[in-house]
Amino acid sequence: EKGGYDHFMLKEIYEQPRSVRDCMRGRIYPDSGEVQLGGIKEYAEKLKNVDRIIIVACGTSWHAGLVGEYLIEEYARVSVEVEYASEFRYRNPIITEKDIVIAISQSGETADTMAAITLAKEKGATIFGICNVVGSSIPRISHAGVYTHAGPEIGVASTKAFTAQVTALTLLAFYIAKLRGQIKRSDLTYLLTELNNIPNEIQKALAANDGIKQIAHHFTGSRNCLFLGRGSGFPVALEGALKLKEISYIHAEGYPAAEMKHGPIALIDEEMPVIFIATKNSSYEKVISNIQEVKARKGVVIAIVTKGDKHVKAIADYVIEIPESNEAFLPLLAIIPLQLLSYHIAVMRGCNVDQPRNLAKSVTVE
Ligand code: M6R
Repeated sequence: EKGGYDHFMLKEIYEQPRSVRDCMRGRIYPDSGEVQLGGIKEYAEKLKNVDRIIIVACGTSWHAGLVGEYLIEEYARVSVEVEYASEFRYRNPIITEKDIVIAISQSGETADTMAAITLAKEKGATIFGICNVVGSSIPRISHAGVYTHAGPEIGVASTKAFTAQVTALTLLAFYIAKLRGQIKRSDLTYLLTELNNIPNEIQKALAANDGIKQIAHHFTGSRNCLFLGRGSGFPVALEGALKLKEISYIHAEGYPAAEMKHGPIALIDEEMPVIFIATKNSSYEKVISNIQEVKARKGVVIAIVTKGDKHVKAIADYVIEIPESNEAFLPLLAIIPLQLLSYHIAVMRGCNVDQPRNLAKSVTVE
């Protein structure tokens, strides 16, 4: 049932070229620049005129929501707020009939997320679900939605569900952008062509596994770890930190790289591994200066870089390459090495990666 892999988590990491492809299947038409989302098409008019989208979720799904915020704001130019479902539901949120509230949930059964959309629905908002488990509770409460089609996820640490959620949100961003006339047909055709090729690029990112395993050996005794990124690399950093802490029990935190100097920099010494998302994109130069700040304090730097990178390689202690891609798709590639790194560190520490202590696959209590 683990398909020859030692753990479900590893199997699910390796399934991502397929699960991302399945999420896009029948939904994108690169040649004609079309995105079809059958589950929400009845609400096209509402999406066209919406002023604000609120995303509610927990854990990894909340991280996917942050990536969605970047994409929807960038391409569709609609203001997005991303909320922890647990906080949203208890603070008398301001919601009107004009709002669209999107719940993101792998299981579709998370109690806090269900409660958040039940509340928003009572206040008249339109509710969309982005869920993996077909027929689960959240899709039933929602007015409409998009299934992620990642297939069953058994490992408690979410991997392929995350990349499928990000894929669904990418499709949604382009769909809304097109509805609102925010994107040129030629740009959309180009982006959809690139997106269509992302499963192949994920496959290439997975090929770094042996090198990642070697790097993992150096960090099995670490007690703390910092993950830093900018732009959509920031939610990737958060997700990388969550993966490491939940399966290896190493304390890890994700931060926007620029926030380092407002506090976390005090933690840096030769015992502190710092993992940077340092790919070639609009924040590349700035991330390089953040890496220099860490090196100046003797921190150990592991950098996720674009294939062929030279500048970061010259200053980082370890680098892991991912294929070059448009910035829009960076999270789908950059998360792959972080999933693998956490996996190997946890296995080397003798942890039960598929069923970490104190955690359940779906959190149906508040
Ligand atoms: O099923 P959901 O996506 O609603 O679950 C949300 C979180 O409980 C979940 O993502 C959790 O954080 C995972 N263990 C992360 O790997």
